[in-house]
Amino acid sequence: MQVTTTITEIRAWVRQARAAGRTVGFVPTMGALHVGHTSLIDAAAERCDCVVVSIFVNPTQFGAGEDFARYPRPLENDLALCAEHGVDTVFAPSPAEMYPRENLTWVAVEKISEPLCGRFRPGHFRGVATVCTKLFNIVGPDLAFFGQKDAQQVAVIRRMVADLNLPLEIVVCPTVREPDGLAMSSRNQYLSPQERKEAPVIYRALQRSAELIRAGETDSAQIVGRMSEVLRQVPGLQIEYVSLVDADTLEDLPQICGRVLVAVAGRLGPTRLIDNIVVDGPAK
Ligand code: PAF
Repeated sequence: MQVTTTITEIRAWVRQARAAGRTVGFVPTMGALHVGHTSLIDAAAERCDCVVVSIFVNPTQFGAGEDFARYPRPLENDLALCAEHGVDTVFAPSPAEMYPRENLTWVAVEKISEPLCGRFRPGHFRGVATVCTKLFNIVGPDLAFFGQKDAQQVAVIRRMVADLNLPLEIVVCPTVREPDGLAMSSRNQYLSPQERKEAPVIYRALQRSAELIRAGETDSAQIVGRMSEVLRQVPGLQIEYVSLVDADTLEDLPQICGRVLVAVAGRLGPTRLIDNIVVDGPAK
């Protein structure tokens, strides 16, 4: 496995792979890799001849007071995991390589970036869309792989790729969960042992919504109320939102129909947790 840190090197590597007729799968990450990430790598290896993983903690998607400085950066461990999963090249640039000067050009995906996490993390999706555009331009993959856990990120990236005619396909892979239902996340390591025990309450609330929808409930307010009862079992959980929205447009659904994204975000101590499920409501 090769490790590249410069744009020139990774471009040369991909050019050679393409010249040899190989398709390129790309998994963009911020490192601190876990089974959620390795499932994306495995999916990329299945669909493509070679796999490029980027490891870059992108400063432009963190707001003031967020966890940019303390975000885990276990590079040696990440490289070992990539090698184990047959990654061909890791692209691990420095911030100066990615942002050599003041950044004046931004990619902003309107509307879809605004609800849900957009309300609590202003500027976050602008940073994500901008760095993904840069990474797609640098790597030039055929396919790029993202996890459903970050449902709004997926919706933003899909829309950006469609609106800007970017020449790649986005593949979305299922959320990977711990045995107790907690969605895998690099931020789970911030949880204290007690918080770790409490965190699966979010998935239990999501499951409650699925049960209600399958039983025929279509009133979102009722469903949110019943989910909140579950979430209140952990008094320390500060809920940011519990929302039922259209899975593609992220528009609010007071009466649910079609593919519904049920999404929850909250803070447990200093840790921000997000999770979601997609449930089929009655046909539109
Ligand atoms: O999902 C992430 O880890 C990041 O948002 C991404 C897509 C790598 C962009 O920095």
